[in-house]
Amino acid sequence: MANETARKIGPVILLGPPGAGKGTQAKKIAEHYGIPQISTGDLLREHVGRGTALGLEVKAIMARGELVPDELLFGVVANRLKQADCERGLILDGFPRTAGQAGWLDAFLEREFFEKSERCTPVVIRLDVDYTQLLLRLTGRRSCPTCGRIYNVHFQPPRVDELCDLDGSKLVQRNDDGEEVIRGRLTAYEAQTKPVAGYYQAQSRLVPVNADRSVEEVTGQIFGVIDSHASGGASAG
Ligand code: AP5
Repeated sequence: MANETARKIGPVILLGPPGAGKGTQAKKIAEHYGIPQISTGDLLREHVGRGTALGLEVKAIMARGELVPDELLFGVVANRLKQADCERGLILDGFPRTAGQAGWLDAFLEREFFEKSERCTPVVIRLDVDYTQLLLRLTGRRSCPTCGRIYNVHFQPPRVDELCDLDGSKLVQRNDDGEEVIRGRLTAYEAQTKPVAGYYQAQSRLVPVNADRSVEEVTGQIFGVIDSHASGGASAG
């Protein structure tokens, strides 16, 4: 196997509805290739937790399951993408989510990234999951507040009920994982995020992956897509 923590990977964009497994797969990719996971949901929750001006502005929007306005996100994402750990590659988990964000990202990468990197055309992977599965995945999700590991009471339960396998912390449920808010998030996905796939498909950059399989099977296919992209191959549909 090539030394995955030395070669250039470029940006990996994970698209998919709430609960598709973007965060779960982003962590696997980050560990395997040694590139950072950039989750806009996590960045925003951190602002809410710290009570920053941005956090106060977005708290109610997120609690309703609506998308945060584009202009509130661009500064946060730009600052994160400019950090040195992104030079070999990065995983975008939950961004872009609107046509405006996709256009902004292309312009940002062109301006800030391409001249510093030989290979940074993003590979865009969409995780496809049946909607009936999504509800179970979201209502059953628990996560560790200390290390961020994601569990599911139905599909990936911890060894000891409600405790993290790695550090023993008490697992927590996200505020927006109640059924009513989940419905709002799925509606926002249908209306605002689904068209983003069309944007990438029109440029032959979209690779759909059937994510209605075990975590390991999905990870295996994603690694194949990234390896093919990083070695110059293309498998976009
Ligand atoms: P965000 O945090 O990005 O949430 P999301 O997109 O709704 O996605 P989730 O994190 O819920 O799901 P996931 O796909 O990561 O699935 P996971 O791996 O956890 O966004 C939250 C909010 O922030 C938004 O509503 C919005 O307000 C705001 N926001 C964020 N980004 C924004 C943006 N760009 N623009 C505007 N607003 C933005 O898995 C889910 C569960 O399934 C887990 O329990 C897991 O264990 C389980 N699971 C995973 N894979 C499998 C599998 N293969 N088989 C069985 N179970 C599985």
